[in-house]
Amino acid sequence: MIKADVVIIGAGAAGLMCAATAGQRGRSVVLIDHSKKLAEKIRISGGGRCNFTNINVRPECYISNNPHFVKSALKQYTQHDFIALVDKYGLTYHEKTLGQLFCDQNSQGIIDMLKAEVDLGEVTWRMETPVMQVEQIDGGFVVTTPTEVWHCESLVIASGGLSIPQIGATAFGYEIAKQFGLSIVPLAAALVPLTFQAEDLWTDLAGVAFENVVVSCENTSFREDILLTHKGVSGPAILQISSFWEAGKTIEIDLLPDMDLEDFFRSANRDSLLSNVLADILPKRFLHVWLAKYGEIRPLKQYSAKELQVISTELHQWQVKPSGTLGYKKAEVTRGGVDTDLLLSKTMMVRSVPGLYFIGEVVDVTGWLGGYNFQWAWSSGYVAGLNI
Ligand code: FDA
Repeated sequence: MIKADVVIIGAGAAGLMCAATAGQRGRSVVLIDHSKKLAEKIRISGGGRCNFTNINVRPECYISNNPHFVKSALKQYTQHDFIALVDKYGLTYHEKTLGQLFCDQNSQGIIDMLKAEVDLGEVTWRMETPVMQVEQIDGGFVVTTPTEVWHCESLVIASGGLSIPQIGATAFGYEIAKQFGLSIVPLAAALVPLTFQAEDLWTDLAGVAFENVVVSCENTSFREDILLTHKGVSGPAILQISSFWEAGKTIEIDLLPDMDLEDFFRSANRDSLLSNVLADILPKRFLHVWLAKYGEIRPLKQYSAKELQVISTELHQWQVKPSGTLGYKKAEVTRGGVDTDLLLSKTMMVRSVPGLYFIGEVVDVTGWLGGYNFQWAWSSGYVAGLNI
């Protein structure tokens, strides 16, 4: 049995930050990951450019059964702390939209930076190493891999969520939680495209995009772009709302949030066909399919005020009922996870199992799209790293 102060399972965003922080405090740390390549999710993130944080990070941008849980970690390690680290390594970045910061040196720049930070902490790396067993013993834990048995005081589970199993996501963290009797808030694919029944009008509209629309589900709304696809609908506003959507719920899309359509109709050429009038403000392909439900297309003047009101309402409050999502293969994150009521928010330690920590996406904390999930990984990894 080899002794170490800390074993961290999962060398992704949260595990790397945690290992660097603990190692630089002088703790002996072993970082274990079953993947061959380091931090694959960081590599593919942000279209390869890694949207590493958001300048507007605040607790309200996170979904969790306990919305207050994120406050402590986000305060102890802020977006500005991570930006300072990026600056220290001479990496440059730009704000794309809505406070989202992307690395000019691509994701690899962020991975290299984190690896350098971990190496500064003289951490022992064990890549391509599956974990066969975890046991609690007096004074700590025993972690068994095919070739080694580690004995540690603190054990950190940083194995992430279920999204993109093709690059190494597993249910490991949830299984360890169950082994220790911890409850899991139900899991679901989130930040994911939504699907519709094949017979819906969607299949004819694949490729049609709308900019700056408002998508709502119950009391939550996002204003960004959407894209109709062969299977349903995608784009940032849909990914955002998918984290709030559950089977059976309807979503509402306001395609023209800034426009008073009845006013627009009043000032339009009354002899023009309705399709031509609307073609100034909506994609023609969309109108071709959408207007079919109102019968033969006539000149604007032949529509009654009531008919135009119905059309306006439907364009402002398009009700769609998704049949599902594209699932974990296409989801950016997993909603739900280890119940935050069981963890100390200041340190991420399990209240009932001293020395056991859960960090990052495996915890029931899901950020909005736009750098929020990485910030959660950095912040939760850092606070655990300070305390293990
Ligand atoms: P992460 O998944 O990063 O790491 C988990 C590690 O555990 C992996 O290295 C894995 O190999 C390892 N592991 C899993 N099972 C194991 C086992 N059984 N044994 C050993 N090791 C195991 N977020 C954001 O803020 N900005 C962005 O731009 C993007 N973009 C983006 C794009 C795409 C396509 C996806 C899928 C996701 C994003 N995200 C994102 C989300 C972000 O990638 C995610 O929230 C963080 O990587 C979560 O960090 P974790 O460290 O918790 O898990």
